Parts: sequence; structure tokens; C-alpha cells
Amino acid sequence: MTPASRATARAAVVTGASRGLGAVLARLLAGEGFSLVLNARDAARLERVAGELRARGSQVTVVPGDLTESRVRERIATAVDAESGLDLLVNNAASLGPTPLPTLDAVGLADLERVYRVNVVAPIALVQALLPALSARRGLVINLSSDAAIGGYPGWGNYGASKAALDLASVTMAHELASRGVSVVAVDPGDLKTPGAEPAFSPEEFATRPPPEVTGPFWLWLIGQPPSAVTGRRFRAQADHWGAENVP
Ligand SMILES: NC(=O)c1ccc[n+]([C@@H]2O[C@H](COP(=O)([O-])OP(=O)(O)OC[C@H]3O[C@@H](n4cnc5c(N)ncnc54)[C@H](OP(=O)(O)O)[C@@H]3O)[C@@H](O)[C@H]2O)c1
Repeated sequence: MTPASRATARAAVVTGASRGLGAVLARLLAGEGFSLVLNARDAARLERVAGELRARGSQVTVVPGDLTESRVRERIATAVDAESGLDLLVNNAASLGPTPLPTLDAVGLADLERVYRVNVVAPIALVQALLPALSARRGLVINLSSDAAIGGYPGWGNYGASKAALDLASVTMAHELASRGVSVVAVDPGDLKTPGAEPAFSPEEFATRPPPEVTGPFWLWLIGQPPSAVTGRRFRAQADHWGAENVP
């Protein structure tokens, strides 16, 4: 990619891009011509995804590390070209916490806090770190939610409450950041057959889930919308008409 085409190409950050839905999203965005900054903790696995995309001509920078660490978020912000800006931040990385999933009366408080740090604090902190770049391109933040945010499923309270908090943070930021030109949506991708989901289900249940690629048409639709036309909404990627909902 030449310096001139890099300045005009759309740019995205995808967290948790080493596997599961995040790797699928990285491939999809690369296919749409985005330059990418990818993050996950496992550097070797992340580099495998990046290498595959570079071999097809994509501009990819990897920033391995734990998103709960401010220096990792700062390295992501440095990797993003602040001058030409950022079109898309996909806050995809998340933690289910320990499995088997403990009920809230029994969950260890360190585990409870860790899930909130990964699923709520890190995505908000990343928006803070990338705000100038997002504002420069009137960009879109996509926060990955879950049906567990509204389900009240036994055992899913730690993860589900963290996603409910992220949903409310999403619609609140949509209002707060409108004047800065930044849009924010929440997306429940629906049940998927990913490495992260596997430990929480029996082999029989897990086998019935669709691969993360089924959400492809939704993402292509979403990135084709003017961000200001979708801001503040919560989508279900596998529902009819993409399931735009009012955020709770
Ligand atoms: N799968 C489903 O059925 C489902 C349903 C509803 C919602 N979702 C949501 O969709 C998103 C993707 O889910 P998934 O199932 O694809 O997840 P996954 O298979 O567990 O992948 C999670 C990704 O995040 C990275 N990650 C985890 N903790 C991190 C941290 N502290 N810092 C940086 N990277 C971290 C992981 O890599 P490392 O381990 O190398 O860091 C991995 O690349 C999540 O937000 C999830 O809550 C999934």
C-alpha cells in the first residue's frame, strides 16, 4: 500500500482478533480494503491471522497484549495514525470468566472484577484513548454485546451483567460523543461456534451453533451505513432485518 492510498483507506482497530468472531471480522474488514490494527494477548496466534491478511495485500499492524493494561491501549493508539484517523473501533475481546460458570452467590470477587475490567473498563478506556483519531474520521465504535445482557440465565450473571453495562455505556457514549462526530453501537452477534464459547456448553449443544462467518452479511450492511444513522442502536446480527433494538 502506498502512503497516499494508506491516507485514504478506511482504518479499523479490532480487539480479540486472534480467533473466533474477531478473526472473522479482521478477514472481512481486510477484504473491504480497511487497514487494520489487531490486538489479542497471544502474539503468535495474532501474527498468524495478520500474516494471512498481509499475504493478500492488506496493511496490518499487530499490538499483542492484555487490554486491561493501559500501556497496551496506548500502544494501540500509537499504532493508529492519529493524523489520518480511525473509521472503526471494534471492541470484540471479552472474557466469560471461569468455567464452569459460577452463580453470582459463589463467584470469586477477583474473577468478578476481572470480567468487568476486560468487558467494560477496557472498551471504554480504548474509546478514550482513540477518541481524537475517531473524531478525525467521524468514526464508529462497535461494542460486542450478548443475549446474556438481558437473559438473566443462571450462571451467566457475571458475564451478562458486564455486557449489560457495556450496552448502557454504548448508548450513553452515543449521546455524549455525537458532538465530537463519533458514533457508537452495540451488537449481539447471536450464538456462535467459537473457541471462547466452547467451555460453557456441552459438546452436543456446542455442535449445533453456527460458525461466526454467518454474521458476515450483517457486518457488511453495518459498515455500509453512515455511522450517524445507526448511532445509539443495539443490533442482533442474526435476527431478521438485523434486529435493531432500543438499547435498555
Ligand atoms: N461466541 C458466542 O456465541 C458469542 C455470543 C454472544 C456474544 N459474543 C461476544 O462476541 C465477542 C467475540 O466472542 P468469541 O466467542 O469470538 O470470543 P473468543 O473465541 O473467546 O475470542 C476472544 C478474543 O479476545 C481475545 N482476548 C480475550 N481477553 C483479552 C484481553 N484481556 N486482552 C486482549 N485480548 C483478549 C482472545 O485472544 P487471547 O486469549 O490471545 O487474548 C481472542 O482473540 C465477545 O465480545 C463475546 O462476548 C460471543
